[in-house]
Amino acid sequence: MKERAKIILTGDRPTGPLHLGHYVGSLKNRVELQHSTVQYVMIADVQALTDHAEQPEMVRRNVLEVACDYLAVGIDPSQSTLFIQSLVKPLFELTIYYLNLVTWNRLKHNPTVKQEIIAKNFGESVPAGFMIYPISQAADITAFKADLVPVGEDQLPMIEQTNEIVRHFNRIYKKDVLVECKALIPKIARLPGTDGKPKMGKSLGNCIYLSDNADTLSKKVKGMYTDPGHLRVEDPGKVEGNPVFTYLDAFDPDKEAVEALKAHYQRGGLGDSVVKKRLNEVLQAFLEPIRTRRDEYVKDPGAVMQILQQGTGRANAAAHQTLLDVRKAMFLDY
Ligand code: TRP
Repeated sequence: MKERAKIILTGDRPTGPLHLGHYVGSLKNRVELQHSTVQYVMIADVQALTDHAEQPEMVRRNVLEVACDYLAVGIDPSQSTLFIQSLVKPLFELTIYYLNLVTWNRLKHNPTVKQEIIAKNFGESVPAGFMIYPISQAADITAFKADLVPVGEDQLPMIEQTNEIVRHFNRIYKKDVLVECKALIPKIARLPGTDGKPKMGKSLGNCIYLSDNADTLSKKVKGMYTDPGHLRVEDPGKVEGNPVFTYLDAFDPDKEAVEALKAHYQRGGLGDSVVKKRLNEVLQAFLEPIRTRRDEYVKDPGAVMQILQQGTGRANAAAHQTLLDVRKAMFLDY
């Protein structure tokens, strides 16, 4: 069955533990798809260094944290190949070749990169490695001939750039060596922060982490932003743009109950604390088994490292094959 299956390449930068935004944006898809596809999940430590060059130890630490998050959430090493980006050298050779196929001007106009430059206050001091990370990401994806990339919607510009490189490469080297890919974006594409900001982000301090303990989780849910116009219980409240309801939509398995809560809230007479109590129950039930599994992996970093090493071996074999094809197409097969 898996022989003709789709190939997935996906991953995250290890700059902090993963949060519910990651889960909704891509982890859920990865867990669900791993049985019917050939899936590679990459811990993008090299990409993490493009904007954290001065914190190598932080990146190193988070490689293990993210690996534990992946395993805890249900990415199964017998179904998916988990690997560390920096250990797969063919990716960096591909990056160098692809650099010649992209103009500087094109890089400057990648909307996600543009936003990140502002968010990170880079100003004029953008590291060159950061500017070109979309090209390195194209190498990640194409090295595995991946056709499906489950990611959050902020990654769409990367997929677009990857496909431009694929088409450009295949055109000038006159071979169908590289494969175009499609992003897989979930229905609820983005989870707002607990403060109601549009996105959960580590630097914004508005995240619920997969690794949060029960107490931290309760506190975060209690402190969540809701409808600021909903002052008294009897007042009608807004459901749109109210993160408590967005989270319920994403995590509460009982859709009818959520609809009933929404209707009651909009009519008036339903207090925020009641809705938050429900959300807390739902999230505790969701995170409890993840937390338990995570604790087991955290206790055995050697076993986690071994899973990553084994996956890295498989990832290297696949990427090396593509590199041979690429070198041949480029008359570099000496
Ligand atoms: N850019 C992704 C992030 O910021 C990480 C990443 C690197 C990635 N290479 C990738 C995602 C390839 C999907 C495919 O989290």
